[in-house]
Amino acid sequence: MKSNLQIARATYQPKLPKALLGPVKAKEGATTQSVGNQEEIKAMFPNTYGMPVIEFVEGDEKEYAPFNVGVILSGGQAPGGHNVISGLFDGIKSLNQDSKLYGFILGPGGLVDHNYMELTSDIIDEYRNTGGFDIIGSGRTKLEKEEQFEKGIEILRKLNIQALVIIGGDDSNTNACVLAEYYAAKNYGVQVIGCPKTIDGDLKNEQIETSFGFDTACKTYSELIGNIQRDCNSSRKYWHFIKLMGRSASHIALECALQCQPNICLISEEVEAKGMSLDAVVEYIANSVVARANDGNNFGTVLIPEGIIEFIPAIKKLIAQLNDILADNEMMSREETIEFVKKNLSKENLQVFNSLPEDVSSQLALDRDPHGNVQVSLIETEKLLSRMVASKLDQWKKEGKFNGKFTAQHHFFGYEGRCAAPSNYDADYCYSLGFNASRLIANGKTGYMSIIRNTTAPAADWVAGGVPITMMMNMEKRNAKMKPVIRKALVELDGAPFKYFAENRSEWARKTSYVYPGPIQYFGPAEVCDQPTITLKLEQAN
Ligand code: FBP
Repeated sequence: MKSNLQIARATYQPKLPKALLGPVKAKEGATTQSVGNQEEIKAMFPNTYGMPVIEFVEGDEKEYAPFNVGVILSGGQAPGGHNVISGLFDGIKSLNQDSKLYGFILGPGGLVDHNYMELTSDIIDEYRNTGGFDIIGSGRTKLEKEEQFEKGIEILRKLNIQALVIIGGDDSNTNACVLAEYYAAKNYGVQVIGCPKTIDGDLKNEQIETSFGFDTACKTYSELIGNIQRDCNSSRKYWHFIKLMGRSASHIALECALQCQPNICLISEEVEAKGMSLDAVVEYIANSVVARANDGNNFGTVLIPEGIIEFIPAIKKLIAQLNDILADNEMMSREETIEFVKKNLSKENLQVFNSLPEDVSSQLALDRDPHGNVQVSLIETEKLLSRMVASKLDQWKKEGKFNGKFTAQHHFFGYEGRCAAPSNYDADYCYSLGFNASRLIANGKTGYMSIIRNTTAPAADWVAGGVPITMMMNMEKRNAKMKPVIRKALVELDGAPFKYFAENRSEWARKTSYVYPGPIQYFGPAEVCDQPTITLKLEQAN
C-alpha cells in the first residue's frame, strides 16, 4: 500500500545536466596532487595517484558491449540513495540494455559475504524518488583488509562485474580508493567508483560542492525546528534544547540556524577555535536566557551540533588519549574498559574524565563505531547542557542576577531526517551522480568519485565529471595509526555561511526572529521546490 504522495512522486523524472543527455567524452584537466602528505599518499597509491580531474562534454555516439556493475550503500542513510542507484541503472542500460546491476546487501559486508541481488527494472521502479536505503540495505563494515578484497573479487568475477560503485561518506570513499588501488595493482580488471553521500555535509571540498542527503535532512530538521519555534512562541514557557546529527562537523546545525533563526546555535568549530570550556559554553547559553528573561521572554531555542563535546579542547584531548589507549583493546567488558581507561589516562585527562557526568564519560570510553569514531549521536549533550544551564541559573538566582523562569524541553533530530523522501534538489543531484557514475565506468575510470557541480544553477547547467579520490586525501591518525583518509570538511569560520550567521546571531539571540520554513515541497513554483541549501548558496555566491 502506498500513500498518494508516494504514487505521485514515483512518476517524477529527475533532471539531468544537459551534458549527460547525449553521448559524452571525458575532458581531462591537469594531473592532481593530494591535499596533504603528497609523497606518502603517492607511494601508497602508485596506480591511482595524480590522475586528472574529468569533465564530461559532448562526444560521439559509440557502441558499448554489455557490462555488469555492482553497487554498495555504505554507512548512515541519506535521502537520495535510491536515486543514485536508479540513475546508475538507467545510465548503464542507456549504454547497453543487456548490462546488469547487482546490489550487495547490507553494505560492504555484502561484498565480502557474497550476499547480493540483481536489481531489475521492476525493483528499481519501486524505489525511484523514495527515501531510505532499504532497496539493498546499508552497513558499516569497513573494507580494509586484503582478505576482504580477495573475497570481493571472487564474487565480482562470478557475476562478471566490471565495476563497483560505493556510495558512502569520507571513510567509505577512502576505502573505495584503497580497493581501487588494490584491484588496479593486481590487474584484476575491476573498476571502483565512489559517490559522495552523507547528511553530515562534511564530504565537500574544491571539487565536491555538497554531499547528497544534506539538503533534504536539513530541510526536514528545519521544518521540525520551525514547528517547535511556533509552539514555543505560542506558549512562551519553554526553552527547547535541540541536538542535531552531523557527527563532528556543525554543517547541519549551521544550515538549520540559517533557515530558522533560532535564539542560539552552537558551532563546535568555533567553540574549539575560541578554546571554550564546557562551563563557558553553558554561560554563553545562560546569558541569553537571562537577557531574554529581562525582556519578559522566558522561552527560546538552542541548536546543538551532536559533535560539540569533542570540540571542547579539554574533552578533545581526553578523547584523543582514549582513542590511543583503547585502539587495541576491543574485547574487554564495560567495567574492565572503564577501569583500564582510568588506570591509563594522564592525570590531567583523568581529571576531566572524572568531572563529566558518569553517563557521558562512560559513553566516551565505550561506544565506538567500526571506524574508531566516538559515537557522538549517543551522547545526550542536549540534556547535559540544559542541566548545567539550569544549575547556573539557580546559582545566579540566589545571587540576584536572574529573575526569570527556566523550563527546558529536549529533542534530538537525527534519524527523523536521514530517510526522508529526497527534495527535488537531492532527487536530481543523486540521479545525476548515479547516471554520471555509469559514464565514468564506460570511460574506464577507477579510483574516481562521481561529481556534479554548479548545482546552484538550474539542473540543465550542472557540470558532470569525476575527481580522483587520492586528490582529497591526507594522512590522519585513526585507531592510533597514521592512515590515508579523505580530509573531512568542518565549518570554516571565515566561510560565508558562518560569517552570515555570526553577523546576525546577537539579534536572533535577544529578539524572537524565528523563521518557520515549513515542509519540503515537491510540486509548485521553483522558488519553493527547487532551492538548494542556504549554505550552498552562500558558498557559491563567493
Ligand atoms: P555517515 O557519515 O555514515 O553518513 O553517518 C551519518 C550519521 O547520521 C551521523 O550524523 C551520525 O553521527 C551517525 O550517522 C549515526 O550512526 P548510526 O546510524 O550508526 O547510529
